[in-house]
Amino acid sequence: EKRIGILTSGGDCAGLNAALRAVVHRAIRNYGWRVFGIRDGSLGLMERPLDYVEFDLSLVTGDMLRLGGTILGTINKGDPFAYPMPDGSVKDRSQDFVDGYKELGIEALIVIGGDGSMRILNNLCRKGGIPMVGIPKTIDNDVAHTDYAIGFATALNVAGEAIDRLAPTAASHHRVMILEVMGRDVGHIAINAGIAGGADVVLIPEIPYTLEAIARKIEEVSAEGRNHALLVVAEGCKTETGQAVTTVQTGGENRYGGIGQYLAARLEKMVEAETRVTVLGHVQRGGMPSMRDRIIASAFGVYAVDLIAQGKLGRMVAWQHGQVTDVPITDVAGLTRAIDPYGTLAQTARGLGIYIGEM
Ligand code: F6P
Repeated sequence: EKRIGILTSGGDCAGLNAALRAVVHRAIRNYGWRVFGIRDGSLGLMERPLDYVEFDLSLVTGDMLRLGGTILGTINKGDPFAYPMPDGSVKDRSQDFVDGYKELGIEALIVIGGDGSMRILNNLCRKGGIPMVGIPKTIDNDVAHTDYAIGFATALNVAGEAIDRLAPTAASHHRVMILEVMGRDVGHIAINAGIAGGADVVLIPEIPYTLEAIARKIEEVSAEGRNHALLVVAEGCKTETGQAVTTVQTGGENRYGGIGQYLAARLEKMVEAETRVTVLGHVQRGGMPSMRDRIIASAFGVYAVDLIAQGKLGRMVAWQHGQVTDVPITDVAGLTRAIDPYGTLAQTARGLGIYIGEM
Protein backbone atom coordinates (compact mmCIF):
# COMPACT_ATOMS: atom_id res chain seq x y z
CA GLU A 1 0.00 0.00 0.00
CA LYS A 2 1.14 3.49 -0.84
CA ARG A 3 1.76 5.74 2.17
CA ILE A 4 1.39 9.49 2.01
CA GLY A 5 1.93 12.20 4.62
CA ILE A 6 0.12 15.45 5.24
CA LEU A 7 0.95 18.46 7.38
CA THR A 8 -0.43 21.92 8.11
CA SER A 9 2.12 24.72 8.23
CA GLY A 10 2.17 28.43 9.15
CA GLY A 11 -0.67 30.32 10.81
CA ASP A 12 -3.88 28.38 11.29
CA CYS A 13 -7.24 29.32 9.78
CA ALA A 14 -10.71 27.91 9.35
CA GLY A 15 -11.08 25.04 6.90
CA LEU A 16 -7.80 23.20 7.52
CA ASN A 17 -9.58 20.22 9.07
CA ALA A 18 -11.99 20.10 6.14
CA ALA A 19 -8.99 19.77 3.81
CA LEU A 20 -7.44 17.03 5.96
CA ARG A 21 -10.75 15.18 5.93
CA ALA A 22 -11.01 15.39 2.14
CA VAL A 23 -7.47 14.09 1.66
CA VAL A 24 -8.07 11.12 3.95
CA HIS A 25 -11.39 10.24 2.30
CA ARG A 26 -10.00 10.39 -1.21
CA ALA A 27 -6.78 8.56 -0.41
CA ILE A 28 -8.38 5.74 1.56
CA ARG A 29 -11.68 5.30 -0.25
CA ASN A 30 -10.51 5.79 -3.80
CA TYR A 31 -6.94 4.57 -3.80
CA GLY A 32 -6.64 2.38 -0.71
CA TRP A 33 -3.59 4.32 0.51
CA ARG A 34 -2.46 4.90 4.10
CA VAL A 35 -2.41 8.52 5.31
CA PHE A 36 -0.12 9.84 8.02
CA GLY A 37 -0.82 13.21 9.62
CA ILE A 38 2.38 14.92 10.77
CA ARG A 39 2.01 17.00 13.90
CA ASP A 40 3.00 20.66 14.29
CA GLY A 41 4.02 21.38 10.73
CA SER A 42 7.53 20.33 9.80
CA LEU A 43 8.35 19.72 13.47
CA GLY A 44 6.68 16.30 13.56
CA LEU A 45 9.27 14.95 11.11
CA MET A 46 12.18 16.70 12.84
CA GLU A 47 11.49 15.22 16.26
CA ARG A 48 12.56 11.80 17.49
CA PRO A 49 10.47 9.85 18.02
CA LEU A 50 8.55 11.12 15.01
CA ASP A 51 5.29 12.87 15.93
CA TYR A 52 2.40 11.74 13.73
CA VAL A 53 -0.96 10.02 13.66
CA GLU A 54 -2.21 7.50 11.13
CA PHE A 55 -5.67 8.52 9.94
CA ASP A 56 -8.52 6.13 9.42
CA LEU A 57 -12.02 6.94 8.30
CA SER A 58 -13.34 6.97 11.88
CA LEU A 59 -11.16 10.03 12.54
CA VAL A 60 -12.53 12.07 9.66
CA THR A 61 -16.25 12.40 10.27
CA GLY A 62 -18.35 15.35 9.12
CA ASP A 63 -17.49 17.09 12.40
CA MET A 64 -14.10 17.89 10.87
CA LEU A 65 -15.91 20.23 8.48
CA ARG A 66 -17.25 22.24 11.39
CA LEU A 67 -14.06 22.39 13.40
CA GLY A 68 -11.80 25.46 13.20
CA GLY A 69 -8.00 25.35 13.62
CA THR A 70 -6.03 22.24 12.71
CA ILE A 71 -6.18 18.99 14.63
CA LEU A 72 -2.56 18.37 13.57
CA GLY A 73 -1.25 21.60 15.09
CA THR A 74 1.06 24.03 13.35
CA ILE A 75 4.18 25.74 14.57
CA ASN A 76 5.14 28.71 12.46
CA LYS A 77 8.42 29.83 13.94
CA GLY A 78 10.56 26.84 13.13
CA ASP A 79 12.05 27.21 9.66
CA PRO A 80 14.09 23.97 9.57
CA PHE A 81 16.86 25.71 7.59
CA ALA A 82 17.27 28.27 10.39
CA TYR A 83 15.75 26.66 13.41
CA PRO A 84 15.73 28.80 16.57
CA MET A 85 17.46 26.84 19.34
CA PRO A 86 16.68 27.35 23.07
CA ASP A 87 20.08 29.02 23.63
CA GLY A 88 19.19 31.73 21.08
CA SER A 89 21.36 30.33 18.30
CA VAL A 90 20.06 29.21 14.92
CA LYS A 91 20.68 25.75 13.49
CA ASP A 92 20.10 24.13 10.11
CA ARG A 93 17.88 21.16 10.96
CA SER A 94 16.71 20.43 7.42
CA GLN A 95 18.45 17.06 7.39
CA ASP A 96 16.38 15.99 10.44
CA PHE A 97 13.26 16.65 8.38
CA VAL A 98 14.53 14.67 5.39
CA ASP A 99 15.61 11.78 7.62
CA GLY A 100 12.23 11.84 9.38
CA TYR A 101 10.43 11.65 6.07
CA LYS A 102 12.48 8.60 5.09
CA GLU A 103 11.93 6.98 8.50
CA LEU A 104 8.16 7.32 8.16
CA GLY A 105 8.41 5.58 4.80
CA ILE A 106 5.98 7.81 2.95
CA GLU A 107 6.06 8.34 -0.80
CA ALA A 108 4.67 11.85 -1.10
CA LEU A 109 3.86 14.78 1.13
CA ILE A 110 0.87 17.12 1.01
CA VAL A 111 1.62 20.52 2.54
CA ILE A 112 -1.25 22.83 3.50
CA GLY A 113 0.35 26.25 3.83
CA GLY A 114 0.68 29.87 2.72
CA ASP A 115 3.33 31.33 0.45
CA GLY A 116 6.05 31.20 3.13
CA SER A 117 5.37 27.54 3.87
CA MET A 118 5.28 26.71 0.16
CA ARG A 119 8.72 28.21 -0.23
CA ILE A 120 10.31 26.57 2.81
CA LEU A 121 8.70 23.16 2.36
CA ASN A 122 9.47 23.17 -1.35
CA ASN A 123 13.13 23.80 -0.55
CA LEU A 124 13.10 21.04 2.05
CA CYS A 125 11.47 18.61 -0.34
CA ARG A 126 13.94 19.46 -3.09
CA LYS A 127 16.81 18.86 -0.71
CA GLY A 128 15.44 15.45 0.23
CA GLY A 129 14.06 14.47 -3.18
CA ILE A 130 10.60 14.39 -1.56
CA PRO A 131 7.59 14.53 -3.91
CA MET A 132 5.35 17.34 -2.66
CA VAL A 133 1.90 18.72 -3.45
CA GLY A 134 0.76 22.03 -1.95
CA ILE A 135 -2.68 23.22 -0.83
CA PRO A 136 -2.93 27.01 -0.33
CA LYS A 137 -4.37 28.39 2.89
CA THR A 138 -4.25 31.80 4.50
CA ILE A 139 -6.83 34.30 5.66
CA ASP A 140 -4.73 36.93 3.85
CA ASN A 141 -5.66 35.35 0.48
CA ASP A 142 -2.32 36.44 -0.94
CA VAL A 143 -1.03 33.17 -2.42
CA ALA A 144 -0.17 33.73 -6.08
CA HIS A 145 -2.09 32.05 -8.92
CA THR A 146 -5.14 31.10 -6.87
CA ASP A 147 -8.29 33.17 -6.47
CA TYR A 148 -8.94 31.60 -3.08
CA ALA A 149 -6.89 30.15 -0.30
CA ILE A 150 -8.52 28.16 2.50
CA GLY A 151 -9.49 30.40 5.43
CA PHE A 152 -10.11 33.65 3.58
CA ALA A 153 -13.86 33.23 3.17
CA THR A 154 -14.39 32.64 6.89
CA ALA A 155 -12.15 35.55 7.89
CA LEU A 156 -14.04 37.80 5.49
CA ASN A 157 -17.35 36.76 7.05
CA VAL A 158 -15.99 37.62 10.50
CA ALA A 159 -14.77 41.03 9.33
CA GLY A 160 -18.03 41.76 7.50
CA GLU A 161 -20.06 40.78 10.53
CA ALA A 162 -17.90 43.06 12.67
CA ILE A 163 -18.85 46.00 10.46
CA ASP A 164 -22.51 45.00 10.72
CA ARG A 165 -22.17 45.12 14.49
CA LEU A 166 -20.22 48.38 14.54
CA ALA A 167 -22.64 50.30 12.31
CA PRO A 168 -25.55 50.59 14.78
CA THR A 169 -23.34 51.55 17.72
CA ALA A 170 -21.54 54.09 15.51
CA ALA A 171 -24.92 55.57 14.57
CA SER A 172 -26.17 55.65 18.18
CA HIS A 173 -23.13 57.60 19.35
CA HIS A 174 -22.44 59.66 16.21
CA ARG A 175 -18.95 58.22 16.03
CA VAL A 176 -16.30 57.38 13.50
CA MET A 177 -15.62 53.67 13.92
CA ILE A 178 -12.27 52.32 12.78
CA LEU A 179 -11.98 48.59 12.21
CA GLU A 180 -8.46 47.19 11.83
CA VAL A 181 -8.43 43.84 10.06
CA MET A 182 -5.67 41.34 9.33
CA GLY A 183 -4.17 40.63 5.93
CA ARG A 184 -0.42 41.07 6.44
CA ASP A 185 0.94 43.05 3.45
CA VAL A 186 -2.25 43.01 1.40
CA GLY A 187 -5.80 44.31 1.63
CA HIS A 188 -8.02 41.41 0.51
CA ILE A 189 -9.95 41.14 3.79
CA ALA A 190 -10.20 44.92 4.18
CA ILE A 191 -11.51 45.80 0.73
CA ASN A 192 -13.91 42.87 0.51
CA ALA A 193 -15.30 43.47 4.01
CA GLY A 194 -15.48 47.21 3.40
CA ILE A 195 -17.56 46.78 0.26
CA ALA A 196 -19.78 44.12 1.83
CA GLY A 197 -20.26 46.06 5.06
CA GLY A 198 -20.86 49.49 3.55
CA ALA A 199 -17.71 51.24 4.79
CA ASP A 200 -17.03 54.88 3.90
CA VAL A 201 -13.26 54.53 3.90
CA VAL A 202 -11.13 51.45 3.17
CA LEU A 203 -7.37 51.66 3.47
CA ILE A 204 -5.19 48.93 2.00
CA PRO A 205 -1.39 48.66 1.75
CA GLU A 206 -1.60 48.61 -2.05
CA ILE A 207 -2.86 52.23 -2.31
CA PRO A 208 -1.34 55.26 -0.51
CA TYR A 209 -3.74 57.59 1.27
CA THR A 210 -3.80 61.03 2.84
CA LEU A 211 -5.32 61.94 6.19
CA GLU A 212 -6.82 65.06 4.60
CA ALA A 213 -8.72 62.97 2.07
CA ILE A 214 -10.06 60.70 4.85
CA ALA A 215 -11.18 63.73 6.86
CA ARG A 216 -12.82 65.19 3.77
CA LYS A 217 -14.72 61.95 3.20
CA ILE A 218 -15.96 61.92 6.80
CA GLU A 219 -17.14 65.52 6.45
CA GLU A 220 -18.82 64.68 3.15
CA VAL A 221 -20.72 61.83 4.81
CA SER A 222 -21.84 64.18 7.54
CA ALA A 223 -22.90 66.83 4.98
CA GLU A 224 -25.00 64.14 3.31
CA GLY A 225 -26.88 63.80 6.58
CA ARG A 226 -25.31 60.72 8.18
CA ASN A 227 -24.11 61.16 11.72
CA HIS A 228 -21.46 58.42 11.71
CA ALA A 229 -18.79 56.90 9.50
CA LEU A 230 -17.15 53.50 9.12
CA LEU A 231 -13.48 53.11 8.27
CA VAL A 232 -11.81 49.75 7.59
CA VAL A 233 -8.03 49.59 7.60
CA ALA A 234 -5.77 46.67 6.75
CA GLU A 235 -3.15 45.98 9.41
CA GLY A 236 -0.36 46.24 6.84
CA CYS A 237 -1.09 49.90 6.03
CA LYS A 238 1.65 52.36 6.81
CA THR A 239 1.44 55.91 8.12
CA GLU A 240 0.55 58.64 5.68
CA THR A 241 4.25 59.18 5.01
CA GLY A 242 4.95 55.51 4.50
CA GLN A 243 6.45 54.59 7.87
CA ALA A 244 5.64 51.18 9.33
CA VAL A 245 3.46 51.80 12.38
CA THR A 246 4.33 48.38 13.69
CA THR A 247 7.98 49.07 14.30
CA VAL A 248 7.33 52.67 15.26
CA GLN A 249 4.64 52.04 17.84
CA THR A 250 4.29 48.41 18.78
CA GLY A 251 7.92 47.35 18.60
CA GLY A 252 9.22 43.96 17.55
CA GLU A 253 10.17 42.64 14.17
CA ASN A 254 7.46 40.86 12.31
CA ARG A 255 4.44 42.37 14.10
CA TYR A 256 1.52 43.97 12.38
CA GLY A 257 -1.18 46.19 13.75
CA GLY A 258 -1.41 49.57 15.43
CA ILE A 259 -2.49 51.49 12.33
CA GLY A 260 -6.05 51.81 13.67
CA GLN A 261 -4.88 53.69 16.75
CA TYR A 262 -2.57 55.83 14.65
CA LEU A 263 -5.46 56.89 12.42
CA ALA A 264 -7.80 57.53 15.35
CA ALA A 265 -5.28 59.78 17.09
CA ARG A 266 -4.74 61.82 13.91
CA LEU A 267 -8.35 61.99 12.72
CA GLU A 268 -9.75 63.06 16.09
CA LYS A 269 -7.83 66.27 15.68
CA MET A 270 -9.13 66.79 12.16
CA VAL A 271 -12.85 65.95 12.35
CA GLU A 272 -15.47 66.79 14.91
CA ALA A 273 -16.69 63.28 15.63
CA GLU A 274 -15.36 60.98 18.34
CA THR A 275 -13.45 57.94 17.09
CA ARG A 276 -13.23 54.40 18.44
CA VAL A 277 -10.96 51.60 17.27
CA THR A 278 -11.64 47.86 17.07
CA VAL A 279 -8.71 45.57 16.33
CA LEU A 280 -10.24 42.33 15.14
CA GLY A 281 -7.13 40.17 15.50
CA HIS A 282 -7.17 36.41 15.73
CA VAL A 283 -10.95 36.04 15.87
CA GLN A 284 -10.58 36.21 12.08
CA ARG A 285 -8.58 33.00 12.16
CA GLY A 286 -10.78 30.99 14.48
CA GLY A 287 -14.30 29.72 14.65
CA MET A 288 -16.45 27.50 12.53
CA PRO A 289 -15.41 27.44 8.84
CA SER A 290 -17.86 29.09 6.45
CA MET A 291 -19.62 26.92 3.88
CA ARG A 292 -17.42 28.42 1.15
CA ASP A 293 -14.23 27.47 2.98
CA ARG A 294 -15.51 23.94 3.56
CA ILE A 295 -16.20 23.55 -0.15
CA ILE A 296 -12.87 25.03 -1.26
CA ALA A 297 -10.98 22.90 1.27
CA SER A 298 -12.81 19.74 0.22
CA ALA A 299 -12.20 20.37 -3.48
CA PHE A 300 -8.50 21.12 -2.85
CA GLY A 301 -8.05 18.00 -0.71
CA VAL A 302 -9.58 15.63 -3.25
CA TYR A 303 -7.63 17.19 -6.13
CA ALA A 304 -4.33 17.09 -4.24
CA VAL A 305 -4.63 13.33 -3.78
CA ASP A 306 -5.51 12.91 -7.45
CA LEU A 307 -2.36 14.83 -8.39
CA ILE A 308 -0.26 12.34 -6.44
CA ALA A 309 -2.11 9.46 -8.09
CA GLN A 310 -1.31 10.94 -11.50
CA GLY A 311 2.34 11.43 -10.56
CA LYS A 312 1.97 15.22 -10.95
CA LEU A 313 4.26 16.40 -8.21
CA GLY A 314 5.83 19.72 -7.27
CA ARG A 315 2.40 21.27 -7.93
CA MET A 316 0.09 23.45 -5.86
CA VAL A 317 -3.65 23.13 -6.24
CA ALA A 318 -5.33 26.42 -7.17
CA TRP A 319 -8.78 27.90 -7.69
CA GLN A 320 -9.07 29.64 -11.04
CA HIS A 321 -12.21 30.66 -12.93
CA GLY A 322 -14.49 28.56 -10.74
CA GLN A 323 -12.44 25.39 -11.15
CA VAL A 324 -9.70 23.62 -9.25
CA THR A 325 -6.49 23.36 -11.21
CA ASP A 326 -2.79 23.14 -10.41
CA VAL A 327 0.30 25.29 -10.88
CA PRO A 328 4.03 24.66 -10.30
CA ILE A 329 4.93 25.37 -6.68
CA THR A 330 7.99 27.23 -7.92
CA ASP A 331 5.65 29.75 -9.62
CA VAL A 332 4.07 30.52 -6.25
CA ALA A 333 6.89 30.46 -3.74
CA GLY A 334 7.95 33.90 -2.57
CA LEU A 335 5.24 35.77 -4.51
CA THR A 336 2.37 37.80 -3.06
CA ARG A 337 -0.99 38.28 -4.71
CA ALA A 338 -2.03 41.85 -3.97
CA ILE A 339 -5.14 43.88 -4.75
CA ASP A 340 -4.98 45.46 -8.19
CA PRO A 341 -5.50 49.21 -7.57
CA TYR A 342 -7.48 49.39 -10.83
CA GLY A 343 -9.14 45.96 -10.69
CA THR A 344 -12.80 45.11 -10.09
CA LEU A 345 -12.76 45.45 -6.32
CA ALA A 346 -11.01 48.82 -6.27
CA GLN A 347 -13.24 50.18 -9.03
CA THR A 348 -16.35 48.87 -7.29
CA ALA A 349 -15.30 50.58 -4.07
CA ARG A 350 -14.70 53.84 -5.93
CA GLY A 351 -18.01 53.46 -7.72
CA LEU A 352 -19.74 53.21 -4.36
CA GLY A 353 -18.09 56.40 -3.19
CA ILE A 354 -15.76 54.64 -0.78
CA TYR A 355 -12.46 56.48 -0.26
CA ILE A 356 -9.77 53.87 -0.88
CA GLY A 357 -6.74 56.11 -0.99
CA GLU A 358 -4.86 58.64 -3.08
CA MET A 359 -6.49 61.83 -4.48
O1 F6P B 1 -0.85 35.37 7.80
C1 F6P B 1 -1.96 35.19 8.61
C2 F6P B 1 -1.95 36.17 9.76
O2 F6P B 1 -3.12 35.97 10.53
C3 F6P B 1 -1.83 37.63 9.33
O3 F6P B 1 -3.05 38.15 8.86
C4 F6P B 1 -1.32 38.23 10.61
O4 F6P B 1 -0.56 39.40 10.37
C5 F6P B 1 -0.44 37.17 11.18
O5 F6P B 1 -0.82 35.96 10.58
C6 F6P B 1 -0.50 37.03 12.67
O6 F6P B 1 0.46 36.12 13.04
P1 F6P B 1 0.56 35.49 14.50
O7 F6P B 1 -0.51 34.44 14.61
O8 F6P B 1 1.93 34.93 14.53
O9 F6P B 1 0.33 36.59 15.48
